[in-house]
Amino acid sequence: MLNTASALARGPFFASGAWMTESLIDIAHVTHAYQTETGSVPVLNDLTLSCAEGTFTAVVGPSGCGKSTLTRLIAGLMIPDEGVVSLHGERVTSPRSTVGMAFQNPVLLEWRTILDNVLLPLEIVPNALSRKDREARAMDLLKLVGLEGFESKRPSELSGGMRQRASLCRAIVHRPEVLILDEPFGALDAFTREDLWQTMHNLRAEESFTCLLITHDLRESVFLADQVIVLSGRPATVQYTLDNPMSGPRSLDELYTPEAAEKLAILRHEIQVAQGREVA
Ligand SMILES: Nc1ncnc2c1ncn2[C@@H]1O[C@H](COP(=O)(O)OP(=O)(O)OP(=O)(O)O)[C@@H](O)[C@H]1O
Ligand SMILES: [Mg+2]
Repeated sequence: MLNTASALARGPFFASGAWMTESLIDIAHVTHAYQTETGSVPVLNDLTLSCAEGTFTAVVGPSGCGKSTLTRLIAGLMIPDEGVVSLHGERVTSPRSTVGMAFQNPVLLEWRTILDNVLLPLEIVPNALSRKDREARAMDLLKLVGLEGFESKRPSELSGGMRQRASLCRAIVHRPEVLILDEPFGALDAFTREDLWQTMHNLRAEESFTCLLITHDLRESVFLADQVIVLSGRPATVQYTLDNPMSGPRSLDELYTPEAAEKLAILRHEIQVAQGREVA
């Protein structure tokens, strides 16, 4: 894992005959505002962060501070007014098929089976897989998230948690380098959410993606992420970065250790500062 300060200090390095950076996602001095009929809405202000390849970053911050805007910039759905968003050192100027996304509402297509919903990206993103290989890939993922046997069902026949599992499969079926999750577990009850955290660990053990998760749940961020970034109130900038490196599989029990309690207390304090409810 790499935080921004050390990434900037270390800079690019020479490997395999080319200049490389360790980080996959780089957001450098990004400032952005929405132009509306009633004027300009500043959303991000000189925001700088980076995510090293293969790591899991959680972004937390007050509601409306600009988290979803950040995901849209990384996915290339929008270009920032100022600053640079890059993936592997290459500036992002348009949507990329190497980015997979999942949201709070899974938006699965009711007229397709669960298997066909998961297969959708492979029908859109160019690939050399035969129909049989695509189905095998989708079935492997469905099995990994515990949906084996539900592949022929329609979305309405599944529970909310099951639909979100299918949505995660759909987001990574085409093996994206970057997985962006915008509050994917926000609408689920606490027990289902914890099940899904475990599912995320299983997916991460089997698949090689760099993940950026937006969440309001501090426990979720500490359980899942290698680094937790707290954004300030709008216009958002990086207020605090918590290093929380993953050392092997995690269990939910670890959330009840003194170390986890300390991390959660720090994050809770930082969120209160970001909300303007407490001084830094
Ligand atoms: N398309 C848009 N046009 C104008 N303003 C927008 C647009 N999208 C978002 N905003 C404004 O930008 C700000 C940031 O929105 P954004 O959705 O990025 O926040 P967020 O941190 O994801 O919030 P939440 O935690 O509630 O999901 C908000 O004040 C919102 O009203
Ligand atoms: Mg949002």
